[in-house]
Amino acid sequence: GEGSLWGGRFASGPSPELARLSKSTHFDWQLAGYDIAGSRAHAKALAAADYLDADQLAAMLAGLDELERRVVSGELVAAEADEDVHGALEAALITIVGSDLGGRLRAGRSRNDQIATLIRLYLLDHSGVIEALVVDLVDAIAAQAERHGDAVMPGRTHLQHAQPVLLAHHLLAHAWPLVRTLERIRDWRVRASTSPYGAGALAGSSLGLDPGLVAAELGLSGPAENSMDATASRDVVAEFAFVLAQLGIDVSRLAEDVIVWNTREFGFVRLDDGYSTGSSIMPQKKNPDIAELARGKSGRLIGNLTGLLATLKALPLAYNRDLQEDKEPVFDSVETIELLLPAFTGMIATLHFDTDRMAELAPQGFSLATDVADWLVRQRVPFREAHEISGALVRYCEENGLDLDEPTDEQYATVSPHLTPEVRSVLTVEGSVASRSGAGGTAPARVAEQLASLTARVRAL
Ligand code: ARG
Repeated sequence: GEGSLWGGRFASGPSPELARLSKSTHFDWQLAGYDIAGSRAHAKALAAADYLDADQLAAMLAGLDELERRVVSGELVAAEADEDVHGALEAALITIVGSDLGGRLRAGRSRNDQIATLIRLYLLDHSGVIEALVVDLVDAIAAQAERHGDAVMPGRTHLQHAQPVLLAHHLLAHAWPLVRTLERIRDWRVRASTSPYGAGALAGSSLGLDPGLVAAELGLSGPAENSMDATASRDVVAEFAFVLAQLGIDVSRLAEDVIVWNTREFGFVRLDDGYSTGSSIMPQKKNPDIAELARGKSGRLIGNLTGLLATLKALPLAYNRDLQEDKEPVFDSVETIELLLPAFTGMIATLHFDTDRMAELAPQGFSLATDVADWLVRQRVPFREAHEISGALVRYCEENGLDLDEPTDEQYATVSPHLTPEVRSVLTVEGSVASRSGAGGTAPARVAEQLASLTARVRAL
């Protein structure tokens, strides 16, 4: 009820405008399950230190079970007068077990150490969900790569034709950042698993409670080393918001490829009907809305991260109410990613590639000019000169409307005596791609190894 957490010192309850400003139940209610788990663990710590006898502990745990049942069934919701989830649940527990027993639970804990712990439990749970969704996306990309074997496409830098590459190589280039995201989540989890519970408001508990017991009950690795850091820091929250923002950015880069590939000018992909949208006015349209929403939502994920960092900047130690502003942005990032990834993965899994079109464009734009230079180097021509000769050949072909393999033997010789007819052997897309057999290169054998190694790395996580 109103003012119930700090009634003693106050002659009146909060003004209605303060109550409205202060309220967080509309977003922190989703932490109710974690709050109750924390209360169970805390009750056991109180019992272990002799503040609750065996009967009291049993009654408290039964009361918490009933409280949870009411929350899960929707029978209990936050009341208008409740400020936050912690206060609301304590008030409701008291209606179940009575104020003598219910009023004992708050000993040795504060909403400051509670909330710092609960946000970690929430993020740890959702990190598992997000991990599985990222694995699904990696799998969808890897399956497309595998399906397209040795299919070629124009590789681009500056969005200009550069050198031919395998479609599988290009697709896997989008998968590796996602693998790093999975590894980042693993690494983050180590830091996120520290338990602030027991830090109290800021200075720690004077009641001889065992925070290690609470941590173990909650499945966390152990208590925090510094009670002020435990209650005042939110870098673990910001780091998770970063992981999700980077994930959004990586998905957005793949989305941008899909959007461009889906244009008439590129014509590299067709979208499945179930994963594209039409126009209300133009009957011919088939739009890549999922990819565009992915691109758009990455901006929102970046905004959540920067907003959170701005909240944290220059906050004095220890707890400040500003920290209540950590939850909405990171909840939104979690919900955004969990909404986006299933649709995005479906779009990728059902993409249809026009590999004939890609193969046709792969050698265009003199994309084999580097192969001429490399062939000359293998004939022991210095690279500087090889680059000059290859450039001169491009200019000659451009002026005469020829492709690189079309000049006659005599025409090659006019450009340079080093250009013997054998140069034609490297002037195919297949030859070019196969020649890039160095580590991490686009040669079919290397790409097959890459795919196997990516799959192994994801399975090993
Ligand atoms: N609702 C607060 C938060 O989200 C936790 C409560 C701490 N409030 C306080 N006045 N110390 O951070």
